[in-house]
Amino acid sequence: MSKIVILAGSPRRGGNSDLLTEAFARRAARENEVKIIRVADLSIAPCRGCNACFGEGNRCVQRDDMESVIEELRDADVLGIASPVYFYGISAQIAAAIHRLHNPVRDTFHVKKAFLLLAAASRREQVCEPIRLQYTLLTEHFGIENLGIVAAQGVKEPGDAAAAGYTVEAEALAAKI
Ligand SMILES: Cc1cc2nc3c(=O)[nH]c(=O)nc-3n(C[C@H](O)[C@H](O)[C@H](O)COP(=O)(O)O)c2cc1C
Repeated sequence: MSKIVILAGSPRRGGNSDLLTEAFARRAARENEVKIIRVADLSIAPCRGCNACFGEGNRCVQRDDMESVIEELRDADVLGIASPVYFYGISAQIAAAIHRLHNPVRDTFHVKKAFLLLAAASRREQVCEPIRLQYTLLTEHFGIENLGIVAAQGVKEPGDAAAAGYTVEAEALAAKI
């Protein structure tokens, strides 16, 4: 049994990346502990780049909900990132949470595996490529195994990701864990 933490980055409740997240979580929860953190529902300020977190205690000068996210990540084995595609990138909400992992406390985490769930309105072939590249570089940098990527394309309105069968893809990815 692994502990899987999914950082879900859409501000749109019940939207397409949420559908992928829930489908993944339902299947994965059969054999694992799964925790979904909707970062858009939390108060997580962007990193200020002050590097205060490099000091004793690794405390960020910003006291906000990132503290509880860090607590959840402390004993996680698998990290999932779910995001809508916004202007060919990840959402500002998920970016803020990831940037706050600049804090060296992350080096005490034992996350060894990750996966990525994306939702984009466009069917254009390259639409998810910038995020795939960022994700690949990050997982390589931290020595984290990539379990897989579900990139739902052509999904604009809430529900489209299920209608197009991408939730089945997310379940299949979860079954591999
Ligand atoms: C601010 C904003 C920017 C967006 N930028 C893109 C984009 O660059 N490419 C794209 O294919 N879809 C874009 N979309 C559409 C969303 O990615 C799409 O509707 C997706 O299904 C939203 O996921 P969600 O339901 O999980 O929020 C954008 C939507 C918003 C609100």
